[in-house]
Amino acid sequence: MVRGTHKNAFREYVTSKAAGLSALLADPLLGEVKAALVDGAPRVGNFQVHGTWPAFLQEALRTCSGNPELHSVVMALLEKEQSSASSATHHEKRRLLRGLGLLGTSGYSVGKILAESPSFDAAAAVLKARGIKLIARSRRTASDLGYKRGYQLVEDPAYMTAKSILCTEDEGFYVIPPGESAVFVSGTGTETDPYVIELAVIRNCLGEEAFAAPLLAWLDAVIHAAVGVRRNQRPNQPGAMVQIGLNMGPRHARVLGWGKSFNKPNLSQEEMTAQDTDFIGAQSLLWLLINSNFPTEVPAAFAAGVAGLPYPALGTQNVPSEMGFSFEYDGKDYNFTQAGRAPPEGIALLGFRMGSHTDDSPVPFTVIMTCSREDPKAPALAPGLGANLVDLTLKTVVQAAPATLMAFNSNKLHGTTNHGAGIDPTNSGLGIFLTKRVHDAIRDAVGKSGYDGVVYAGAPITDLSGNGEQP
Ligand SMILES: [Fe+2]
Repeated sequence: MVRGTHKNAFREYVTSKAAGLSALLADPLLGEVKAALVDGAPRVGNFQVHGTWPAFLQEALRTCSGNPELHSVVMALLEKEQSSASSATHHEKRRLLRGLGLLGTSGYSVGKILAESPSFDAAAAVLKARGIKLIARSRRTASDLGYKRGYQLVEDPAYMTAKSILCTEDEGFYVIPPGESAVFVSGTGTETDPYVIELAVIRNCLGEEAFAAPLLAWLDAVIHAAVGVRRNQRPNQPGAMVQIGLNMGPRHARVLGWGKSFNKPNLSQEEMTAQDTDFIGAQSLLWLLINSNFPTEVPAAFAAGVAGLPYPALGTQNVPSEMGFSFEYDGKDYNFTQAGRAPPEGIALLGFRMGSHTDDSPVPFTVIMTCSREDPKAPALAPGLGANLVDLTLKTVVQAAPATLMAFNSNKLHGTTNHGAGIDPTNSGLGIFLTKRVHDAIRDAVGKSGYDGVVYAGAPITDLSGNGEQP
């Protein structure tokens, strides 16, 4: 356990320098003192990668939680550091989180609302007050509907081919327009849990548009950057899907670890670290949004899907799996050093479309957030059509729009509508999709000899419903 030894050495080092750190609070201009402290410190965690004063402080904050006095000194120094640069202050962070509706959890359970309401309509009225339409809709089977894998999904009959499925209202699909938030439930036939959520769509998940715009712009930039330097996971489909976090490596190797997702050999270490840091920030923000917008059943399903397994916080080969993330808003860095990160498998999508297929997840929900949608210069489709998510056996189409969160069951037949190159709008999006491959590999690794925790460096996520810092 080399890492643990280093951590202890780092903790002892910081503790021995407590007096010097306190002095810095009174006189923050002691640059030489800072440099000496950084130079003499054992390199661990993020500090090992960056070797800077802020990284030193962040690491000190993590390792000194058992010493409240020292912890508060380090916290004060870090706040000072962050407010002096282009970093947001504590007050600014709080204001932004409140404005974006990111403080705390959504606190509503659709199952509970249904159980406590005298009728389905009464439950629907409760959700309507939250701006969400509650819709009862049974899921059918693919064979019953005659749907198969590998079919193109289209919404305009002019683009039908021999291997397409027409996904329109005339064909019995429920088309969710861009302004509508909706939760679809189907009956289970049981007394204890009579309904299960099949699909949840939340619009304007970042609140008011003017407030959300800078964040959406940053997310879109992160996605474009990620797609530019990372391997496309689905090269045979239009657009790109790239990944971050854990994967099983190349198919012939099947080794669980932090994916080698970059495909540009000349990227510097700093560039890769910066790219990963942004992507981790974007994913972790998505995780906050999942917790603060969806019915509690959605994050609870993620927690249940990985229950009892040491899933680590999101990390990469360049950024250790730890607490803390940051994002950019209106030219300022918003650092949340104490916040929990997203689960350890994430994707970014750009212009991505895929015909009917199923995935394999231990969780009945995969979440995608649409961050931008750009129509082609001369749109050949009616507004709202193209590059939309289809749940085939629930027979629903989600018309894509920025700031939309979608939780759908990727184990059921689904896909994206596709009319062809230059015809479909281009969406950018982020997703949290836990794969059964990684799930089973973690399960099988637990307790085995040779499982040295290398992959799982840093604190594991023990509570996936945790939504991080409460500033
Ligand atoms: Fe999929």
